[in-house]
Amino acid sequence: MQIGCIQLQEFRSYRVLTYRPEPRLNLLTGRNGQGKTNLLEALAVLLTGRSFRTSRLGDMPRWGVDAAALGGDLLRAEGTRTVRRTLRKLENGAWHASGDGCPWARVIVFGWQDLAILNGPPQARRGFVDGFAARLYPSHLPALLRYRQVVDRRNRLLQARAPDERLQPWDEQLAAIGMELMGRRRRAVAALQTELGRVYPALTGERHKVQVEYRAAIGEATEPAALLAALARARAAEQRRGLTLVGPHRDDLAIELDGVDARAFGSRGQQRLLALALRLAEVLPVTEAVGTAPVLLLDDALSELDPGVRDNVLREIRATEQVFLTSPEPLDVADAARWVVEGGGIAAA
Ligand SMILES: Nc1ncnc2c1ncn2[C@@H]1O[C@H](COP(=O)(O)OP(=O)(O)OP(=O)(O)O)[C@@H](O)[C@H]1O
Ligand SMILES: [Mg+2]
Repeated sequence: MQIGCIQLQEFRSYRVLTYRPEPRLNLLTGRNGQGKTNLLEALAVLLTGRSFRTSRLGDMPRWGVDAAALGGDLLRAEGTRTVRRTLRKLENGAWHASGDGCPWARVIVFGWQDLAILNGPPQARRGFVDGFAARLYPSHLPALLRYRQVVDRRNRLLQARAPDERLQPWDEQLAAIGMELMGRRRRAVAALQTELGRVYPALTGERHKVQVEYRAAIGEATEPAALLAALARARAAEQRRGLTLVGPHRDDLAIELDGVDARAFGSRGQQRLLALALRLAEVLPVTEAVGTAPVLLLDDALSELDPGVRDNVLREIRATEQVFLTSPEPLDVADAARWVVEGGGIAAA
């Protein structure tokens, strides 16, 4: 898919903007603080309704305004779709989002925050695999939200020392939805593993063995009964701590490079490259699942990489339909569409 055009009103540092990117690699350069990441965020919000930078709607409208709007044309081989989204401040001060999504719009984002997939807490890796699974399977996100509600309810009952018969219906829901989530995460990780084995060596130009594995406290089991049994075993500890201690909200990914845990290996540049490889490894499975290629948003993805690796990254990303790559410094990239982001606007370079 491609973004044919985006219009913004009062979004972050943009008062009004109309931008028509090219259906290939768009290179956006500009000094710090000029709005490069703001533009990538706007593209992601246009496509998916969600920001990769914040979960608070009120962060995105330009400071001091009561409403912001995004619109644009999304293109794929079968036709064009116009989408529009608005953010509005309600009388009680809360922000409300409205607008239609597009069922085939997908975006894969790489940014500085992705370093946490390798060196951050398990939550960062769960967030990564859930984001990927949600791009593959539309039912994943609603199930995840439902699961979180079930865990919250269950935690409150544990804290209130509720008897077993009150916990039981929640245990069953947790086991059923939990297994559903774990099944999709495992399938997503398997797809990722296959592509990563190709992408990481292609980026480094060296032979490496990269391994991503889903790590669940209940091991390889796939039946809700296994999760129920694990809950029963953990019951005493759960009641002591007032917390649900087993389930997909406690699982993790193990990421290894040449047999060494990713958290322990290498320089920051190497960790960034592996994080970028994880994002690029999403592209093919998402394309196959959706039937059209996702848009790639790569925020400052080439910094800290040496020139040979940069060339490999550029070669790899040219295989996708449309890419937005930002950089604070001018880059010499043949056949990219070049744009300068400055002072609240975007101009062809
Ligand atoms: N809600 C908002 N309203 C108005 N301005 C905002 C809002 N949120 C952020 N900004 C401004 O946007 C600017 C940051 O833009 P952005 O993060 O896109 O910069 P950038 O070009 O990506 O810079 P860098 O090269 O440092 O990454 C800052 O000057 C910030 O003050
Ligand atoms: Mg930025």
